Amino acid sequence: MIPYRDLSVQDPQMKAALLAAVDRVLSHGRLILGPEVQQFEEAMASACQSRYAVGVNSGTDALFLALRALDIGPGDGVITTPLSWIATGNAITMTGAKPVFVDVGRDLNINPDLIEAAITPAVKAIMPVHFTGQLCRITEIVEIAQRHGLAVIEDGAQAFGARYGEKPAGSFGTLGCFSMNPMKMLAGYGEAGVVVMNDPLLRDKIDSLRYAGTINKEDCHRPSLNGRLDTLQAAMIMVALAYLPEKIARRREISRFYAERLSGIVGCPGENPGYFHTYYSYTILCERRDELQAFLAVRGVETKIQHPILLPYHTAYKGSHPCSIPVAEQLVTQILCLPNQENLSWEALQTITDLVVEFYSS
Ligand SMILES: Cc1ncc(COP(=O)(O)O)c(C=O)c1O
Repeated sequence: MIPYRDLSVQDPQMKAALLAAVDRVLSHGRLILGPEVQQFEEAMASACQSRYAVGVNSGTDALFLALRALDIGPGDGVITTPLSWIATGNAITMTGAKPVFVDVGRDLNINPDLIEAAITPAVKAIMPVHFTGQLCRITEIVEIAQRHGLAVIEDGAQAFGARYGEKPAGSFGTLGCFSMNPMKMLAGYGEAGVVVMNDPLLRDKIDSLRYAGTINKEDCHRPSLNGRLDTLQAAMIMVALAYLPEKIARRREISRFYAERLSGIVGCPGENPGYFHTYYSYTILCERRDELQAFLAVRGVETKIQHPILLPYHTAYKGSHPCSIPVAEQLVTQILCLPNQENLSWEALQTITDLVVEFYSS
């Protein structure tokens, strides 16, 4: 059996470092927003070339609180991609604003060439997603946003550590949002997220919004829920951070292996010039996708379709967000994520590629 992901911690050194981190937190007992949260925030701001970072308890919270900090709400529109995890659309919707879906390109990211036509007076922000671990054409998006006076909120949930040139995900927009759930590149051991930014006012607003909208933990200035980050998560993520460069390097190595064996048989993800892809997922484009997935499954290879339902076609959204997204509609029937976890053996990878080759030669 080759699982898509195995989240158990196998490396004894890493396990010991994680347990030591837990032990430290249990010893001081400041379990929410403790000192490790501050260390985590400093590390995240530095990694994202931003002045500030605010730890929150999920990537969804990060997006939602970023939108709220910009006072986006009822009557507003936010341009985003139809191809993402539903959290992207939900964060917009939960503020009372409306997502405005703009089609993707062949790289699975929002197509900036189509954004300007979607801007109306209601649109206040653009929320691009750096899908699969490669940045979207973010500099073009920021340039369009500046021309129209819009904010940019980067959904970097899948792309912590990805870069365009020397600049990392999260450093381009007004705010950058990340998830540290266990599936992500920089993974926690439960739910966690972070928002990065340069503006001190936005920092203070998100700091307040993550704790019931209070100032000094007492007086509520704007009603909000509880989105604080656990100290245990922050402490454990700091351990994971030390392993991140190694993890990304191995994902990139796996992607080269796949590309060498599968190019020309399926559509392999490419790294655009100047971009540094982290391969959060290794998402191929393939014909007879469902048949291939079933063929691999009965032979013990677990794959994933991330994500099978385009945002405007979820039951909650159906019919209420008219949009023209033919490229996304086509690609969503072809995407398949192959196992690419860093600790997969060469034998496992060889088995997977042999099976894909066998499927298409039959
Ligand atoms: C693109 C994208 N945005 C947002 C999220 C939400 O993150 P979380 O699961 O931490 O709430 C995820 C991950 O699940 C994601 O992949």
